[in-house]
Amino acid sequence: MKFLKLLLLFFVVQMQAQQGGMWIPSLLEGMNETEMKNLGMKMSASDIYDVNKSSLKDAVPQFNGGCTAEVISSQGLLLTNHHCGFGEIQAHSTVENNYLQDGFWAMKKEDELPNKDLEVTFIVKIEDVTTQILSGVEMLTSEAEKQKKIQENISNLNKSYTKESYQGIKIRTFYEGNQYMLFVTESYTDIRLVGAPPSSIGKFGSDTDNWVWPRHTGDFSLFRIYADKNNLPADYSKDNVPYTPKHFLPISLDGVSEDDFTLVFGYPGRTTEYLPAVAVEQIVNESNPAKIEIRDRALKVTDGFMRKDKAIKIQYASKYAGIANYWKKWIGETQGLTKSNAVQVKRDQEKAFQQKVVKAGKQAEYGNLLADFEKNYNEILPYALSRDYFLEVMLRNTELMGLGFKLYQLEQIQSTRGDQAFTDRKNNLRDGLGEFYKDFNVQVDEKVFEQLIDLYLNKSPQQFIPADLKNTNITKLTADVYGTSKMTTYDGVKELLDGDTQTVLKNLNNDKGYQLIKALSDAFLKEVNPKYDAINTELNALQRTYMKAQLELNKDARIFPDANSTLRVTYGKVKGYNPRDAVAYEPVTYLGGVIEKYIPGDYEFDVSSKLIELYNAKDFGPYGENGKMPVNFIGTNHTTGGNSGSPAIDAHGNLIGLNFDRVWEGTMSDIYYDPAICRNIMVDMRYVLFIIDKYAGAKNLIDEMKLVHPKNKKQSSKKQKIKNKKKKN
Ligand code: ARG
Ligand code: GLU
Repeated sequence: MKFLKLLLLFFVVQMQAQQGGMWIPSLLEGMNETEMKNLGMKMSASDIYDVNKSSLKDAVPQFNGGCTAEVISSQGLLLTNHHCGFGEIQAHSTVENNYLQDGFWAMKKEDELPNKDLEVTFIVKIEDVTTQILSGVEMLTSEAEKQKKIQENISNLNKSYTKESYQGIKIRTFYEGNQYMLFVTESYTDIRLVGAPPSSIGKFGSDTDNWVWPRHTGDFSLFRIYADKNNLPADYSKDNVPYTPKHFLPISLDGVSEDDFTLVFGYPGRTTEYLPAVAVEQIVNESNPAKIEIRDRALKVTDGFMRKDKAIKIQYASKYAGIANYWKKWIGETQGLTKSNAVQVKRDQEKAFQQKVVKAGKQAEYGNLLADFEKNYNEILPYALSRDYFLEVMLRNTELMGLGFKLYQLEQIQSTRGDQAFTDRKNNLRDGLGEFYKDFNVQVDEKVFEQLIDLYLNKSPQQFIPADLKNTNITKLTADVYGTSKMTTYDGVKELLDGDTQTVLKNLNNDKGYQLIKALSDAFLKEVNPKYDAINTELNALQRTYMKAQLELNKDARIFPDANSTLRVTYGKVKGYNPRDAVAYEPVTYLGGVIEKYIPGDYEFDVSSKLIELYNAKDFGPYGENGKMPVNFIGTNHTTGGNSGSPAIDAHGNLIGLNFDRVWEGTMSDIYYDPAICRNIMVDMRYVLFIIDKYAGAKNLIDEMKLVHPKNKKQSSKKQKIKNKKKKN
């Protein structure tokens, strides 16, 4: 009986370990550590995070705010995704020296390429500061006052906290305002490009394969952190030296098998796992479809140009990938939420929640939460939708309007903060324009505008469209704006910005493009945004109370805080899945699969002759496995955007994979995690090494890494013996 109980307990823990979750690395001791060990981990929580000795966290910085990277040598060599370094690789590329197309490898340190505006940030320590941040907040009644007090407390702590001059501080909320954590950070800004495979490897399968398993992408790139003579952060200087890390990750040559323990360490950006059903319903039925339709049109136009023109392909490659990425994610997410009945599941959970509230005698505190959600979400819908249209059409997908909006803000600054602020901002804006126009093609943008302004004027909530823009002739409007606006050229906009404040404002207001963005921005900022903000503040307060209630009423549940771009640990196993009835997916793909997908000369599925030769010769060096070259694998780690470039780590703390994506059926995991089908996708580290060594011949880089055989220390020599034997036969 006792044994049975124990066995049961074991199963419960095993099952629970597959429930997803992104955990705070300083709080792993206890439940998480037990679960991880049950899954096969051989490390302790303090090997992952420790402030007194070096630990895994010292090898895992955030990469440029939006991705993750890991240090893989004692000389500050940094690994991240190809798509995370894409902007930098693109910036160094020209039609003649096309690193996007051909790859780039620095065979010695002098060849490494410095980058503007690129930084990596390490976490030095994490502290719970909830008491300080929430002090004096409870007695306040209005939500606005509470938020103001919290902001005050944050900025006071920011000022008073003791740290080194080269360190930074971040204070972030967890559990929707129920907990606050402070992070001491160190940011390095001299980061140089070291290596990138050609896009035919680093972006193999491109948008067709994006978010899809089975996958065959070598999505990696290499950088190096440089520091000053004292190993401290310093801006670029030729006198800087390679950074010596507190810890770097050894790389396992043993690879993975199904059910192996995996831990993914990184900076997941944002999830909303605790939304009420009514919110999920709006995502599925309203906001996702609207945003998908807008991007559908923008992408079709841009794709048409990129396929025909090499220069446009370079100019728009990075922008296109960014737009396409979430477009496709939203499609998968909507399908997944629908197929898994997420709304109904949430409704059932809410019923159970309501009963718990009654049982606990907490009606006064929590009894109205769900009804209040319902009311506020219904009220916010037209404002939220209108906001989606404004952001997507005006700010994200039509470049001229996006720039116009910056000029509009400039005019606002003049009226709120005066001439000096105006001039400072104007100069600042003008300095950045070169970058903008380098990658701007007016023909592309005009066609995108024509498609999107149509949606904006005819499909966004009509009550917020200015009267004189209703029933507009779209073709005529487009020709008017793009035929006359000075913003369509670099010289034109410099001319617009030339002269004293009054001249600039007069010229701007005479420009047709500016007039349009001003009319639409005015309407948005007066009719939509204030109301949106007000209801949203209410919703945030409700969400905070809802979270508090769930934590209180489900004491034993595994409730993890939503992602918020801070360092998290997620763990699981290497595992295949069943996407549909009678279909089973294996957890590992091989180079043979790349060759299967090969379409000569194709924009997404071309394969270079060098890679084909290596494949035919089975020339995989020490990186292959039984005559095959592993490429990608999947696992049950709960990840999201921002986890790109995150290390996948084995039971002992060695690097086995590089996280870069999720599977199609599981893209809804940001909102609803279903352990049966949610999987993250990683590049097998042996493929990364194979490309660096065998494909690029960059032995110099392999030499500075530490390659290990954790599964069986003697394995390599044993294999050698078997090989020798075979030779004899
Ligand atoms: N889906 C991955 C992520 O969210 C990879 C994106 C790479 N971009 C692309 N359009 N293929 O970042
Ligand atoms: N490719 C994503 C990234 O940036 C990671 C994949 C995901 O969203 O899970 O950040």
